[in-house]
Amino acid sequence: MASILISIKNFSVFFGKSLFYLLESMIFTFLPRPRKSVAGEIVLITGSGSGIGRLLALSFARLGSVIVLWDVNKEGNEETCKMAKEAGATRVYTYTCDCSRREEVYRVADQVKKEVGDVSILINNAGIVTGKVFLNCPDELMEKSFDVNFKSHLWTYKAFLPAMIANNHGHLVCVSSAAGLLGINGLADYCASKFAAFGFAESMHMETFAQKQRGIKTTIVCPFFINTGMFDGSSTRSPLLLPILEPEYAAKKIVNAILQEQMYLYMPKFLYFVMIFKSLLPVKNALLFFDYMGGFNVMDGFVGRRKKD
Ligand SMILES: NC(=O)c1ccc[n+]([C@@H]2O[C@H](COP(=O)([O-])OP(=O)(O)OC[C@H]3O[C@@H](n4cnc5c(N)ncnc54)[C@H](O)[C@@H]3O)[C@@H](O)[C@H]2O)c1
Repeated sequence: MASILISIKNFSVFFGKSLFYLLESMIFTFLPRPRKSVAGEIVLITGSGSGIGRLLALSFARLGSVIVLWDVNKEGNEETCKMAKEAGATRVYTYTCDCSRREEVYRVADQVKKEVGDVSILINNAGIVTGKVFLNCPDELMEKSFDVNFKSHLWTYKAFLPAMIANNHGHLVCVSSAAGLLGINGLADYCASKFAAFGFAESMHMETFAQKQRGIKTTIVCPFFINTGMFDGSSTRSPLLLPILEPEYAAKKIVNAILQEQMYLYMPKFLYFVMIFKSLLPVKNALLFFDYMGGFNVMDGFVGRRKKD
């Protein structure tokens, strides 16, 4: 009898909370979610020397955060630092760091802890793309994709998560990709590294949640192509549903998601439908749909950033 009462009680709590969360979510479909303040927060952005990383740095500069910039490209990073100061940041720290090298990440992280303090918002954004079909992709490049796009996240979490746990305060941001949701031909190593980054960030969210570290938030970002140069030459056959995103738009959406503590951000919104189709449609229909949307050809014209000049 007692166990039945406990089961009824557990179910009632579960049911009540479920209704509350659904209602909350419906309300915030119409009303804007509250945005947290990030003034004074120490925000570390990897891959800040160009593209999205640079734009995120400028946004956090305007929001009054302390900015820590990591990039393997010293020149680009210094340019971002200059721009962040012009945008109003009073404390900007630049570090040349190859995030794919574990020891280097740990060494530079120690430097940051001594010179700046505990990082409270960690944005794992550094990324590379090889853009070759699997059998033409040299082993070293595939390893590099994993080292930069995924394994660097392990090392940065190891370095900065303990202080977040101690303070029960922090935000972990993973810049994955639409290629972290869907396998795409011509992007096998990139997709695998982005799936790994997504899976790691989601698992770590579960781990902190299970350990009741509710002050630590996670945001996982999955954009379609962004016009930063990284994917130059790639194309879309459905610019209405799957447009190539403008960098400023993508950065704004990412900052909003962080401020609103949104866990998943897929851009454009049509990607949410793509994920439903992928999960529910018979495989033949899903492949037909992918083909119809031009999915098999997105990488046909890829030249990428390195070959641009
Ligand atoms: N551009 C797109 O179409 C697109 C789409 C989806 C996801 N993304 C992801 O968004 C993120 C930002 O991409 P972006 O478009 O701004 O590209 P980008 O090439 O402009 O920026 C990437 C930055 O990472 C830095 N970087 C590369 N290797 C590094 C390393 N080993 N250590 C430290 N820094 C390193 C580069 O120097 C560069 O400044 C990446 O993770 C990328 O995979 C991009």
